[in-house]
Amino acid sequence: MKYNIAIDGPAGAGKSTIAKKVAEKLGFVYIDTGAMYRAMAYYYTGKGINCEDKDAVIAEFDNIHLGLKYIDGVQHIFLNGEDISGVIRTQEVGENASRVSAIAEVRAKLVAIQQDIARNINVVMDGRDIGSVVLPDAELKIYLTASVRVRALRRFKEYQEKGIEADLATIEKEIKDRDYRDMHRDASPLVCVPDAVVVDTSDMTVDEVMDRIISLVEQDTDE
Ligand code: DC
Repeated sequence: MKYNIAIDGPAGAGKSTIAKKVAEKLGFVYIDTGAMYRAMAYYYTGKGINCEDKDAVIAEFDNIHLGLKYIDGVQHIFLNGEDISGVIRTQEVGENASRVSAIAEVRAKLVAIQQDIARNINVVMDGRDIGSVVLPDAELKIYLTASVRVRALRRFKEYQEKGIEADLATIEKEIKDRDYRDMHRDASPLVCVPDAVVVDTSDMTVDEVMDRIISLVEQDTDE
């Protein structure tokens, strides 16, 4: 049976944590599309190219080869043969990924790769445009969200655990700015499609969110 799950939502809503667990539980492949935008941003930043400079960004396309590999079930992303999974999780790369993702040509390049992967296998894919553009025919679409305050607090705790100094008000502002950019760009902005199930995780534990999604899959596949 072919079954794809699309999970979209703003930064920090818990998409990757949830998508990973749902995929594990169902034996599906988890695809983190944000990592692809981050990999592009990482490349440009390393080259000193402004992620908003459309012509300069497009001119480099032939020099960028992305690869995905699964090692012990975990997605690793390769840029020109180098595993960069460990270095793309920073705030700076996230900001630049948000900028570079506003360029329609960048999106077209990555969407083609994402659609190709999902064609023959069951996937749980997370991002901003999965239900709207990448997998419009996905069997289940989830819009995962949480209040700005809760998302900022989650990120603040993550930083604290890692011993990174952080300021809650600054994080909150960064989240608001990134939401605005992702939701208001011309090229496939983040939207909640009408056929998505909205799950607000502000007052939910990871297990509760998981149970909710698994029960939606079960309802669907029992029919
Ligand atoms: O989910 P993330 O934080 O890793 O994503 C980084 C940025 O990439 C995000 O701010 C917007 C962009 N993105 C996108 O435009 N479309 C996707 N499918 C995934 C990410």
